[in-house]
Amino acid sequence: MNYEDVMKLALERGFYFPSCDVYADAQAGFWEYGPSGVGLKNKFLELWRRELVRRDGMLEIDGSQIMSKSVFEASGHLGSFADPIIKCTKCRATFRADRTIAEVSKIEIPESADLEEFDKAIKENGIKCPKCKGDFENTRKFNMMFKVGIGPEEETAYLRPETCQSIFVDFPRLFKIMRGKLPLGIAQVGKSFRNEIAPRQSLLRLREFYQAEIEVFCNPKKLNEMEKFSEIQDTVIRVQTDSEPVPMSCKEAVESGIIPNKFVAYYLGILTEFYEKAGIDIAKSRFRKLGEKEKAFYAEIAFDFEVETTIGWLELVACNYRSDYDLSSHAKKSKEKFEVMDNDEKVLPHVFEISMGIDRSLYTILEHSLRNDEENERTVLSLKPYLSPIHVGVLSLVKKDGLKEKTDEIYLKLKRKFDAFLDHSGAIGRRYRRLDEIGSPFAITVDHQTLEDDTITIRMRDNMEQKRMKISELYSVLSEYTAYP
Ligand code: GLY
Repeated sequence: MNYEDVMKLALERGFYFPSCDVYADAQAGFWEYGPSGVGLKNKFLELWRRELVRRDGMLEIDGSQIMSKSVFEASGHLGSFADPIIKCTKCRATFRADRTIAEVSKIEIPESADLEEFDKAIKENGIKCPKCKGDFENTRKFNMMFKVGIGPEEETAYLRPETCQSIFVDFPRLFKIMRGKLPLGIAQVGKSFRNEIAPRQSLLRLREFYQAEIEVFCNPKKLNEMEKFSEIQDTVIRVQTDSEPVPMSCKEAVESGIIPNKFVAYYLGILTEFYEKAGIDIAKSRFRKLGEKEKAFYAEIAFDFEVETTIGWLELVACNYRSDYDLSSHAKKSKEKFEVMDNDEKVLPHVFEISMGIDRSLYTILEHSLRNDEENERTVLSLKPYLSPIHVGVLSLVKKDGLKEKTDEIYLKLKRKFDAFLDHSGAIGRRYRRLDEIGSPFAITVDHQTLEDDTITIRMRDNMEQKRMKISELYSVLSEYTAYP
């Protein structure tokens, strides 16, 4: 199933839809999650907490979305967080230089390349405005942060372009009050904002988007001293070395020097395990090492975790070794102390980050889980049961003869523990189909026999098998099958 199929599902079954859609001035790049999308997102984040945050004893914070100018002066975003843009001299339309050049001439120029490189490619390939065929002005940089005015004096502040800046700014306080020890992971989930020139493809390039970021603070002299490495040394990760991703164990990746140390390999290993549990086809994943010109300005080493979809490889996670770039910049600007003690040694920690795009991850899970079951003329969203927005549909075969009341009674009990969905109306086959499309792993049906012997039928989404079962057994069966791994 492809991008269009996922979009159709998203719109029809309440996963996501465009924001402010009833108004003509609705802006591109803003999307809303409907009830099914929120259910999936919350469960995905619970899995993230279990598999990464709690597994590692990390701290989680929830910082401000609007942050002061000083933060972004120190972080470098005011100076360097900019896209190359080109403006048409005739119709004044603006485009991303790198994308327009790639679309028209298939030449890939990294977005952080020197501006002259874009101008040269435009000239040599005769690239004109896609709208009116006019000529372009010289390429210039456009800062992607949203500026906001605070209070009546409209003091300048910014919507954060990445959640992690509050983690860096709060680090000395958190280390002290939480009695931290290196290595220490600090995590945050929340919205970030980027004034993209060309937002597109619904959840894939948004101006307002969700990130789940983990910043692991470490002693740079101890990147190979990692006891926990043994937990994932045999986990297979796929690393792009030349043209094809090569599967290798984390141990092999470190020993061959493809991944620089055990510390980085450990996090790439647990990240892969997490995505496998989230329902991503890991055989379609790769860690791709970014070149000098592709890396973000704060990264010393960067691996993108990318997954293949029907619209190409999507970057789901940026894994950046940020060194002491952030802590030393904030220390210098704020004149506060950011060093901490690691046993007897005073260190300014280095940071390795796992910066996850939630929206793109959800899109990819949907695409990898959606299938067309031609034989049974249905569309099935085979989500992992623990990620499904609905765990169980509760249906009455017909509404009369006391079946409605019995169904309501069962639903009221189940919904205290599970995400249950009550449905009395319509043909039973169509009700099953709707639940299949939302990804509900189970549907139970109450019929006349239920009134006699307290049994229901339970139908399994993936193979459509139906079994008769005692109502008293339902709780434990559903608990077992919808539990997180
Ligand atoms: N914090 C890294 C990023 O937003 O890509």
